[in-house]
Amino acid sequence: MTKLVVSMPGSGLLADRLAAGLCAEHAEPRTRRFPDGESYVRLDTDCENKDLIVVGSLDRPDEKFLQLIFLCDLLRELGAARVVLCAPYLAYMRQDKRFRAGEAVTSQSFARILCRAVDGLVTVDPHLHRYRNLGDLYNVPTRVGHAAGLIADWIKTEVRRPLLVGPDSESEQWVADVAARAGVPHIVLEKTRRGDRDVEVSVPEVERWRDHRPVLVDDIISTAGTMIETVRHLGAAGLSAPMCVGVHGVFADDAHGELLGAGVQGIVTTNTIAHETNGIDVSGILIEALDDLFGE
Ligand code: R5P
Repeated sequence: MTKLVVSMPGSGLLADRLAAGLCAEHAEPRTRRFPDGESYVRLDTDCENKDLIVVGSLDRPDEKFLQLIFLCDLLRELGAARVVLCAPYLAYMRQDKRFRAGEAVTSQSFARILCRAVDGLVTVDPHLHRYRNLGDLYNVPTRVGHAAGLIADWIKTEVRRPLLVGPDSESEQWVADVAARAGVPHIVLEKTRRGDRDVEVSVPEVERWRDHRPVLVDDIISTAGTMIETVRHLGAAGLSAPMCVGVHGVFADDAHGELLGAGVQGIVTTNTIAHETNGIDVSGILIEALDDLFGE
């Protein structure tokens, strides 16, 4: 079946790489906002009987989501055989339970809406904490690419005597995996979140790692509060300035500037979300995941 890659605004660069790897054309829809804020979407490329891959990272999802749903609907109306969403960063994974009475469990609502619009979903390292896998939430075929191998390769090449540091127990799954692949030590800290931007981190016996370069590894850097607090504690314990590695660099507001200002050696993210810190390319693992999904 012929494949066609269609990119949402902001994901064109990654879509180009995916199209090249999948031997597919890449089409960009025209999108704009009417003066009243409603969305306009148009695609003048033939979609009849093609497998459509919509590439769109879902950071800032509320700004993008309706256009995405309109686009997927349009592709079906234009005769697409299948519409698969390739969302390298999948949003609304963190509200995975009703923490307080009356709260919306948005991870479930979001998945329900998305599943009506697409025939499959491919992503990279979704934030799975209380869900075991994406199938607990999404009832369309899904594939997940893992960035751990790419991050481990990057650390091995770029950092001398690394000590991998996970800011909290939720990060242990990534940090332990990356450390094992890179063959380097790791520790995991303890985090207490008191509010959206108020995070306290405690550090167990870091003194024994003084001659190592700390490398903070987390799945998401959003407000950067978790990393900034960790950087402070490592600094207070006398460790060298850490390198910060995030799979998904969401960088809310001025999070990037604030993290740089906290005294880090550098910040590197994968290109699941386009950002100037992108230094690790996930297109290869996305191509494999898409090939696997279409080949099933
Ligand atoms: C926690 O659940 C995640 O693994 C990250 O630690 C968290 O999302 C980072 O958020 P922030 O940058 O806002 O501290």
